[in-house]
Amino acid sequence: MESAADHIEMAKKQAAYQAVDDYLLPSYKFVGIGSGSTVMYVVDAIVSRGSEFYSEMTFIPTGSQSKGLIKTAGLNMCCVDERPFINGQPVALDVAFDGADEVDEDLNLIKGGGACLFQEKLVATAARKFVAVADSRKKSLRLCTKWKTIPIEVLPLAAPDVLRRLRAMGSPSPAVRSGLPSKAGECVTDNGMWIIDAPFSPLLIPKDLSSAEDGKGRNGSWEIQTLADELLKIPGIVEIGLFYGFNGNQAAGLGKGLQAQKP
Ligand code: 5RP
Repeated sequence: MESAADHIEMAKKQAAYQAVDDYLLPSYKFVGIGSGSTVMYVVDAIVSRGSEFYSEMTFIPTGSQSKGLIKTAGLNMCCVDERPFINGQPVALDVAFDGADEVDEDLNLIKGGGACLFQEKLVATAARKFVAVADSRKKSLRLCTKWKTIPIEVLPLAAPDVLRRLRAMGSPSPAVRSGLPSKAGECVTDNGMWIIDAPFSPLLIPKDLSSAEDGKGRNGSWEIQTLADELLKIPGIVEIGLFYGFNGNQAAGLGKGLQAQKP
């Protein structure tokens, strides 16, 4: 009999294969590969197409985990800072695929459950199209409903002050993430930073606000863009796990129960 865990793996696999079918075109040359367990199925789906499909493509990882995935699958790899220049500019990625911790109805995301958020955002914003690959467990009306904290990558030196400022912004109990159970101490990212997980009330999207409200709803909840702007002003914050405002360049390969948007 299929267990709950099997069912989840099937949903991740279905979302990943659907995303690759819908959004990876054979003409593409540079493809971002994100982090997490769902992205493993994205790589499987690419490999299942056969080497004729992917041999002219180069894959850009978002950290050590996805580097491992790309290498093990035998795909061509190039790090985000090593990609070629065209007309004096680093080449744009045709598409980037990545997982998500929570997805709202506008396809805004919380990411960073795997502590790779800085490189994930670098790769996502270097791509012409960003595809969030997630099964239906990740869907919610507003971010911070199911995944209740925003992952924030910080310089270790700045952590005490960032925590203080987050509390002043209404995050009740922000905390530095600990390492793996086998490791003592803080979770250290691929960039040598720490992660702070900051709880916030469910985030509003622009249509939730009346014209009189300026970034905060009546119950004091933050609107996503306003919160992101405020967080990114804090010295020592390297990047935040809110992925938003991709201006139509964002799509979703979402598993059962969710609708995918066509490019
Ligand atoms: C890592 C991430 C992951 O993409 C996110 O945590 C989803 O992971 P999974 O597919 O294992 O649920 O943002 O920083």
